[in-house]
Amino acid sequence: MLKINNIKKQFPSVRALDGITLEIKEKEFFGLIGPNGAGKSTLINIIVGYLQMDEGYIEFNGKDIKELGISYKKKIGLVPQSIALYEDLNAIDNLKIFGSLFDIPKKELKEIINEKLNAVGLYERKKDLVKNYSGGMKRRLNLIAALLHRPEILLCDEPTVGVDPQSRNAIFSYLQDLNTSGTTIIYTTHYMEEAEKLCNRIGIIDYGKIIALGTLEELLNLLPPKKSIFFVKNGLTESKIEEFKKFGKISINNSKYKLEANDEFRFSEFFAALEENGIDERFIEVYKPNLETLFLNLTGRIFRD
Ligand SMILES: Nc1ncnc2c1ncn2[C@@H]1O[C@H](COP(=O)(O)OP(=O)(O)OP(=O)(O)O)[C@@H](O)[C@H]1O
Ligand SMILES: [Mg+2]
Repeated sequence: MLKINNIKKQFPSVRALDGITLEIKEKEFFGLIGPNGAGKSTLINIIVGYLQMDEGYIEFNGKDIKELGISYKKKIGLVPQSIALYEDLNAIDNLKIFGSLFDIPKKELKEIINEKLNAVGLYERKKDLVKNYSGGMKRRLNLIAALLHRPEILLCDEPTVGVDPQSRNAIFSYLQDLNTSGTTIIYTTHYMEEAEKLCNRIGIIDYGKIIALGTLEELLNLLPPKKSIFFVKNGLTESKIEEFKKFGKISINNSKYKLEANDEFRFSEFFAALEENGIDERFIEVYKPNLETLFLNLTGRIFRD
């Protein structure tokens, strides 16, 4: 659906994008994650056409977006990272302004505005000035402002920053419904659990390059296949610990024993040994790698800006 070919973007003091090639498929919920300054917003703004690329090109259904012009812009919606609303206007007047950018007929616009306000729980507050909205309400309004023209692709640039779990979950389920009913979504976030929960496919971007790309499962397979198992200490005596040395290296980690499984480790044998030694499974924790582990492995732990 959207083919991004070798995009480069240089700002005076930094190369924000250094050759991004990426294909977004129709109806995908695509996650773009990366540290601060990695280039996510720059890429999003180039896809939407708010920023010019220095090199490369983007195709929408096989056609260069530069040639498609306005017909492409009507198919794409952006939820920007910084909230872009008129504080001194109410929700309806804000949405009317956004709607007017897309030449939506008045009657239709009125219907869509009501439908969207309802969908994100703002209908009752539609006449309140935006400056009196909570952070979560502003984020929800910022989201629907991008949807009035019913875009085929929705780009969300960190749409849940500063939002409480209620609003966040309302935004998730709304986006999931939108995706199920056919909208392609590109979603940037710093919250790994959001990407894990929402996205069919994830790209990790760092220093303007895609450094990993795939489904969550494919990405987690990039980690060394190391299993760590933790035992709560009071579930075990020293002599019992001896029994478990055949499964790997055991060390003390804070108040727990840590077993780093060796290559021969099999869960079936391990659980049998637990039972033989009368150790309740409640005393063990199996460490499972997640997206955050991978992310930190690939992007390191130094500060970014
Ligand atoms: N208009 C601009 N002028 C100059 N430099 C810019 C501009 N926009 C972005 N940059 C720089 O380009 C790099 C990429 O920025 P970008 O905003 O794309 O990162 P990001 O991944 O969205 O970060 P964050 O997670 O903090 O939102 C950063 O070093 C940033 O300072
Ligand atoms: Mg950004």
